[in-house]
Amino acid sequence: MKPALYPLEKPLPMTTKKIGDVILDVKNISLRFGGVKALTDISFNVKEHEIRAIIGPNGAGKSSMLNCINGVYTPSEGSITFRGKTFDHMNSRQVAEMGVARTFQNLALFKGMSVIDNIMTGRNLKIKSNLLLQALRWGPAEREEIRHREYVEHIIDFLEIQAFRKTPVGQLPYGLQKRVDLGRALAMEPQVLLLDEPMAGMNVEEKQDMCRFILDVNDEFGTTIVLIEHDMGVVMDISDRVVVLDYGKKIGDGSPDEVRSNEDVISAYLGTSH
Ligand SMILES: Nc1ncnc2c1ncn2[C@@H]1O[C@H](COP(=O)(O)OP(=O)(O)OP(=O)(O)O)[C@@H](O)[C@H]1O
Ligand SMILES: [Mg+2]
Repeated sequence: MKPALYPLEKPLPMTTKKIGDVILDVKNISLRFGGVKALTDISFNVKEHEIRAIIGPNGAGKSSMLNCINGVYTPSEGSITFRGKTFDHMNSRQVAEMGVARTFQNLALFKGMSVIDNIMTGRNLKIKSNLLLQALRWGPAEREEIRHREYVEHIIDFLEIQAFRKTPVGQLPYGLQKRVDLGRALAMEPQVLLLDEPMAGMNVEEKQDMCRFILDVNDEFGTTIVLIEHDMGVVMDISDRVVVLDYGKKIGDGSPDEVRSNEDVISAYLGTSH
C-alpha cells in the first residue's frame, strides 16, 4: 500500500519550542537478514526535544531502524550514541534503563488484562522491591506499588482514558488500544520515545487525537520523539525534521519542506525510482 499524500483537514497548532543538542546519534548503521540488506549505511541524529519523523515506503527499513536503536536487532555495522555514550549493541532492557521507550507497529499489549494493568507493566523497570516482598505485600513494597499506581493513574488522566481503566484492552476499539500502548511507554518516563506508526489504522478524528497527545507529551514532558508514520499530512504537521528511507538507504533528511521538495523522495513515493 502506498502512503497517503494528503494533508490533515485542520492544521495542528505548533508551539514555539527550544530544540537542544544531539541526544541520539545514529552512525553508519547497516543491518542484514541473510541476503536482505534491510539497512545500508544509515546516519542521522535526533536533537533533544524535537519530533523527528522517519518515513519511507513499505519495507524501507523504518521499523528495523527503531529495532536497532532499542536493542532488538544488532546492526552488522555502525554505532549509536545516546547522550554521549556510544554502543554497538545493547539489549532492550539496557536501552530502556537509559531512558528510551517505544511503541510497536503491531500492538504488544496483554489483551486480557485491564488498561491500568497494561500501563503498569511499563513501570516494571522502576520497581525496586523484589518479587517476594511484592508477593507478601510487605510494607515498603506496598507503599512502592501505591506510588507506581498513582503514576499510572496520572497517565490515564493525561490520555483521557479514565472511563476504560478496568476494561480488558482486547475489548477496546483499536484507536484506544494504540493510546494504551502509548500509556505503557510513557509509564517508563522516557527521555526518548520511539513510536512505530502510532496512527496506523485510525480514522481522521482518532489521528488528530493521537497527534494532540504526541504534541502534548513533547511539550509538557519535554520528551524527544522519533516517529514512524505513513500519513504525510501528519508528518508534515507535527515533525521538526524528517529522515526518509527507501530500500534500506537514506534518500532524504531535513525539514518537512525540504523533504517534500526532494526529487528522490518524490519519485520514491510515486514509485518511479525503481
Ligand atoms: N526479522 C526479519 N527477518 C527477515 N527479514 C526482515 C525482518 N525484519 C524486516 N525484514 C526485512 O527488512 C526489510 C525492512 O523491513 P522493515 O520492517 O524494517 O520495513 P518498514 O519500513 O518498517 O516497512 P513497513 O512500512 O511495511 O512497516 C524488508 O525487506 C523486510 O522484509
Ligand atoms: Mg514497519
